[in-house]
Amino acid sequence: MYPLNRNRRLRSKESLRNLVRESSIHPHDFIAPVFVIEGSNLKEEISSMPGYFRYSLDNLKKEIKELWSIGVQAILLFVKVPDSLKDNLGSEAINEQGLMQRAIKEIKNLVPEITIMTDVALDPYSKYGHDGIVKGMQILNDETNVVLSKMALSHAKSGADIVAPSDMMDGRVLSIRNTLEKNGFFNTGIMSYGAKYASSFYGPFRDALDSKPGFGDKKTYQMDSANRKEAINEAHADINEGADIIMIKPGIAYLDIVREIRDSTNTPLAVYQVSGEYSMLKAAAKLNWINHNEVMMEQLISIKRAGANMIASYFVKDAIKLIS
Ligand code: PBG
Repeated sequence: MYPLNRNRRLRSKESLRNLVRESSIHPHDFIAPVFVIEGSNLKEEISSMPGYFRYSLDNLKKEIKELWSIGVQAILLFVKVPDSLKDNLGSEAINEQGLMQRAIKEIKNLVPEITIMTDVALDPYSKYGHDGIVKGMQILNDETNVVLSKMALSHAKSGADIVAPSDMMDGRVLSIRNTLEKNGFFNTGIMSYGAKYASSFYGPFRDALDSKPGFGDKKTYQMDSANRKEAINEAHADINEGADIIMIKPGIAYLDIVREIRDSTNTPLAVYQVSGEYSMLKAAAKLNWINHNEVMMEQLISIKRAGANMIASYFVKDAIKLIS
């Protein structure tokens, strides 16, 4: 009680604040999302994500080497698929010679030590821009799981360390886990998007991959942003089905969920600070309305404080530049 306790005492100088700080950001905390496109010598800036790029395979190599050299331990791969290869079943997703599969192999050869994570969902491959197979106006669940499992297996065969189902079908973690086990991929990890909300914060990402839903929205599979308890159920379901890491997404607006899940499980947690979060800060900083670096670090540390072990973020390079 005051004046016996003066909370300002431990804030009185920098060195003291450094001693009592409860959370920190280290380059090892990051997962770098990486966008890959067909072609050669391409490095295309994503218009709604200034400073973030899509790379053709040749240029991707340089980028991966750079990420590894600054201390990034893991990358999360996404591919942009030409319209001509999109269909309803996501057939291209399981093509052993597909862009994703080639990208995994190239990176595995180049930097075998880096952890390669891959997005598993049909949207970039779907002519409807949905994460699953479409029938009428519905997104089929169990039929989609069959394709997702084949997709995950083909990523594992190509050399992926961790597959990351981001589709929110029920039972997909179990289906992927069984498929991996049956085929001898005992050590391939699953980072499941355990609590993924139907969010408009994904807008810029859908520009990046040209993967906007062609009809409707994703609310019959992604979660309602009004719900909290449901997120805990989702996370526990995925853990019971064999997930190794649970991802929560988006980030900043959902930190209460991160804390709840952190307190209810010991499984490692990842938070995805998504495209809209990145673009909003870039835009506000461009207008000089906000201090980019300070707000970026404040957001990242808040994600750690909420209980995340790792953060997928488009700010990886900006942040590492600042902290090292
Ligand atoms: C695909 C997927 C999405 C994101 C990651 N994986 C988009 C979506 O679900 O519509 C969003 C990432 C971001 O916004 O940065 N299933």
